[in-house]
Amino acid sequence: MRSITYLPLIFSLLCAVNVSAQSGAETTTAATQHNLMPVPLSARFNAGRLPVNKSFTVAVRGQVDDRLQAGIDRALRRIEGRTVLELARGRAGDAATATLVVESGGPGKAMPSVEEDESYSLEVSDRQAVLKAPTTVGVLRGLETFLQLLDSDRDSYFVPAVQIQDRPRFPWRGLMIDVARHFQPIEVLKRNLDGMAAVKLNVLHWHLTEDQGFRIESKKFPRLHQLGSDGLYYTQDQAREIIAYARERGIRVVPEFDLPGHATSWLVAHPELGSAPGPYTIERRPGIFEPALDPTREEVYKFLDTFFGEMAALFPDTYLHIGGDENEGKQWDRNPQIQEFMKAKGIKDNHALQTYFNKRLLPILKKHGKTMMGWDEIFQPDLPQEVVIHSWRGPGALAEAARKGYKGVLSAGYYIDLIFPTSDHYTVDPIPADSTLTAEESARVLGGEATMWSEWVSPDTIDSRIWPRTAAIAERLWSPRTVTDLDDMYRRLAVTSVRLEEVGLTHEKNQAVLLRRLAQGRNIGPLQTLVSVVEPVKEYRRNQQRPQTMLSPLTGLIDAARPDSDSARRFAATVDGLLSDAPRFEAHSQQVRNILTQWRNAGPELEAMIDSSPALHEARPLARDLDELATTGLEAMSYISRGMAPATEWRNARLAALDQAAKPKAGLEFPVISSVRQLVIAASELHQLKQMTPAAWKALVKSLAAPPKQIGKQ
Ligand code: ACM
Repeated sequence: MRSITYLPLIFSLLCAVNVSAQSGAETTTAATQHNLMPVPLSARFNAGRLPVNKSFTVAVRGQVDDRLQAGIDRALRRIEGRTVLELARGRAGDAATATLVVESGGPGKAMPSVEEDESYSLEVSDRQAVLKAPTTVGVLRGLETFLQLLDSDRDSYFVPAVQIQDRPRFPWRGLMIDVARHFQPIEVLKRNLDGMAAVKLNVLHWHLTEDQGFRIESKKFPRLHQLGSDGLYYTQDQAREIIAYARERGIRVVPEFDLPGHATSWLVAHPELGSAPGPYTIERRPGIFEPALDPTREEVYKFLDTFFGEMAALFPDTYLHIGGDENEGKQWDRNPQIQEFMKAKGIKDNHALQTYFNKRLLPILKKHGKTMMGWDEIFQPDLPQEVVIHSWRGPGALAEAARKGYKGVLSAGYYIDLIFPTSDHYTVDPIPADSTLTAEESARVLGGEATMWSEWVSPDTIDSRIWPRTAAIAERLWSPRTVTDLDDMYRRLAVTSVRLEEVGLTHEKNQAVLLRRLAQGRNIGPLQTLVSVVEPVKEYRRNQQRPQTMLSPLTGLIDAARPDSDSARRFAATVDGLLSDAPRFEAHSQQVRNILTQWRNAGPELEAMIDSSPALHEARPLARDLDELATTGLEAMSYISRGMAPATEWRNARLAALDQAAKPKAGLEFPVISSVRQLVIAASELHQLKQMTPAAWKALVKSLAAPPKQIGKQ
């Protein structure tokens, strides 16, 4: 029997380097830790608080327009919702005595624009808050900051005294929503626009057409939405409603019509535009498909001229996205007339043929007043410089495009449909610290967009894939590059996530809705325990693990599970604490045991629930894995706290069992496995601790705690 005291001691040496960096924006924290997300350019907290009580009023100095008034009204309703105080309506205060004074320099641009000035300043003293901005949109951004500052103590609500100067780092901060693979009703878009506004995002990129659906009404070519959508499309009035809703919140709407590939739904309605005769049917599977427009035929351009004329009038934003991604050109290869055309024109390959198509499209879009934008496949020699490159396959294309004179937007690294943890996205910067771009080239990097591809999201689950992770991406695009502290980001993200529910988002609450449906009237507690420690498989492995089509119900356990499990992160932190924080070893030890015991106790109820719900049968191996993790962890804790090294056989058997548990089941995996593995190793290496250097110990733990190799992208 060995004394346990070395273990925490050695770990504390190992972990001493893991000191988190201070938030990089200019903040002084005289008051408290703040919950602002995105972090402002500068925030100077002072002593004092502005009380927020039922005599709260707002006064406006200078110009006021409908958008400003509506923004103030919304802010008041949200303060009411949080405080349960009934406040005076509208601009009831006079500037001398009002709690919040808003001073706007002017309405700004008539429509949200990439050139809009979104800056603002906010000064809060114990007597009054003054929000000043050169434009209405700047005021809207400042109101969100004010709402994020609203805090409480035991007895009352208040806003801490602070001086904030703020403006965005990038002018293009977007969220792309694919409404084509799974249609999303306008209520879904509206609540997501509210969420975007809450974290200062300013572009809704509306991915409207795909192999799996054509989602916008065309009055010129009504067969497009009639035959290509299963009846699930936006009328032009609804599109205008969304554009107006977004404008009220200072958000641009950039529509995407994906061409020449990803075009099956177009061709269902108009096979005459295709590169093969058809007939075509709406695609139901996920993946990359062959149907593509025929770029060699004049009637295709005539059609697109009329179509884009109609869409250009509907969508007021300057930018129009033509997609351009993942066109493999297989139909082109097989079409003799297209091959003949290429030979005659000296077009050497399919990339060049697509550039020919883009160059034909460009004057059409220009004629209709639009700037063309497309995914990075369109970035080919000969592409005119006025086209904006949307980089998704890696950050390289963005930098290269900027160097060559093109403007660009980054989505590589912001693919939220890949189910990666928030920290992965947060550390991706459109212009990283080691960028070699000149100032002029950097200015061409407009910003970035999170991408919500919708193969596996329904209106009930889409919010949980977008939020709260997208709030961290919003911070990356708004805040100074130096704001990088991951622990602090996660701390603020937890607060932000709850506040995002205030605007109607369903990312937190819908998990319980889905679980109740699966549990068929039983108590969902044990199922919540299970689902809180699993995550859907990453990348695009879901389709290999649990194949479904676009018509399949998205109501399984995998749909209830969320990316970036908070419980797993908390468990990892508790295990790290146990192994590194010697003075509090006992407290950490108790916490670890409590969590493991909760997992173990969920078992019998889970089994009973699975027995009574056929839809849950696929969860049976996961319930067994949870039991295995709990038992293994508790045994390891027993060895650790007795300071007794287990037999090698125990260690090998446990590690082998953990390897089995690490295999995804029902499209789900346990992110907590590496922490349990760490406990097993800690227990079994106890006897070696005296002989090992901290570096050797760290390397050992790291190597053994590493997750199994992942299968690559499909
Ligand atoms: C893309 O993800 N195909 C742009």
